[in-house]
Amino acid sequence: MNLDDIDTVGVVGAGTMGAGIAQVAAVAGYDVVVRDVEQRFVDSGFGSIEGSLDRFVARGDLDRSAADDARDRIEGTTDLAALSGADLVVEAVTEELSVKQSVFGDLAESCSPETVLATNTSTLSITSIASVVDRPERVVGLHFMNPVPVMAGVEVVVGEHTSEATVDIAHAFAERLDKETWEADDKPGFVVNRVLMPWINEGIRAYDEGVAEKGDVDRGLRLGTNVPMGPLELADHVGLDVVLDASETLQAELGDRYRPAYLLKRKVEAGDLGKKTGAGFYEYE
Ligand code: CAA
Repeated sequence: MNLDDIDTVGVVGAGTMGAGIAQVAAVAGYDVVVRDVEQRFVDSGFGSIEGSLDRFVARGDLDRSAADDARDRIEGTTDLAALSGADLVVEAVTEELSVKQSVFGDLAESCSPETVLATNTSTLSITSIASVVDRPERVVGLHFMNPVPVMAGVEVVVGEHTSEATVDIAHAFAERLDKETWEADDKPGFVVNRVLMPWINEGIRAYDEGVAEKGDVDRGLRLGTNVPMGPLELADHVGLDVVLDASETLQAELGDRYRPAYLLKRKVEAGDLGKKTGAGFYEYE
């Protein structure tokens, strides 16, 4: 299989990442089938896709008709078997190894042996996810960044048994979605989260230990290093639960330098998960 053999893309999970991946694949011209476990999650995914497409139209980056065509190329389902005709599937379900392994086991049963099975995991082992299928050479990491429709890059992660042909398709597919790629070995956190998570946690500690007000921690990093968001703003954007979960996975594998900040844990315990719940380090409408 090569890039030209890919017509239909499956996406498992219609949350923030899955919806974004479905959107960019449809805008690139692919037929997309997106699946979530309940219809209300599928509907919510379509809501965010439509909202995002409207923003592209509003700022003149996409014609209304192209946006409508992209929307029409996406089919929603609650049936994983509906992805059986997909040539490439991207899994974007919850960051739990057992859940991802179960999805991959089911995909391997229903999809063709040729289908590329990609995971959007942010910190889990590609090799371990691939260990449950009979074709680990077809399994690869395609780690998209949030918000998917806006961010320029995708990390391609190579598992122990991922074949060169699969890696090549992963790069070419992401490039077809108008993303630039880089490649990482299957080591905890790959490139981005290995570096980003300690940066976020250190920002939280700097605030918690009184180095500066939270707004100044963020302003300092924005103005001092030219990043679009400071660490606390970015934590709110990504989701504090996601940051905590990734930090704990990294800590388990790489040791104490990845220990999550105490204040991060406390906010997650309080249910203040960032933008998505209306409060994290900051408050949102
Ligand atoms: N769909 C369409 N357009 C969107 C959008 C979306 N989902 N989100 C933002 N935009 C557009 C806006 O319309 C706006 O366009 P114009 O400038 O033409 O008006 C532009 O993007 C900027 O948006 P905003 O003005 O609303 O806000 P902003 O300037 O603060 O940008 C941001 C928002 C793009 C998120 C920017 O702040 C940013 O790049 N932040 C850093 C995000 C980041 O680092 N993401 C990676 C996180 S790590 C990760 O994802 C990996 C992991 O595993 C945890």
